[in-house]
Amino acid sequence: MSVSITFEPSGIGGDVAQGTYLIDAARRLGVSLGTGCTSGKTECPSCLITVTSGSELLSSPSGVEERLLGTELLGESHRMACQTKIENHGDLVVTVVPPKPRPVNDQAEADLFKTFSELPLNKKIAALLQFETLTMSQAFDTALEKPLALGSRAFDAVVARTRSVRSKIDPKE
Ligand code: FES
Repeated sequence: MSVSITFEPSGIGGDVAQGTYLIDAARRLGVSLGTGCTSGKTECPSCLITVTSGSELLSSPSGVEERLLGTELLGESHRMACQTKIENHGDLVVTVVPPKPRPVNDQAEADLFKTFSELPLNKKIAALLQFETLTMSQAFDTALEKPLALGSRAFDAVVARTRSVRSKIDPKE
């Protein structure tokens, strides 16, 4: 049995199979949802939706939803799309909740942004060039270290193999 689902505010909709998770339905229909999530079905509510109609078609809130959303948001028809399965057929309308901008909670980062934004243009360019130089320098260092480390390991392996062969030929060594 299929389910007719519509994602608001885009109005994108279509039919999906019963048993589909809301996030999979969104992706199948080309709706952007949970894009900030790094690990799929986990615990970063970047796939928040509200159920406009058809809540009776959906699975009960999971333990993750109960913990992350709490009774208040769940009571306001909020659900996490990666946790919510469409269990019954019928018509469903959900609204995608736009993700909140990431708060700058690191004071050092906030201070750095403020300082940089207050610089005159020529100093901003100089700072960016300096940053670029540092990054390139680190990249060169890394590139130079890798072959040396590899060469060193290969040399150690050759020495060990030579000792092993010599000890078989001449047990005194
Ligand atoms: S997709 Fe990450 S929490 Fe739902």
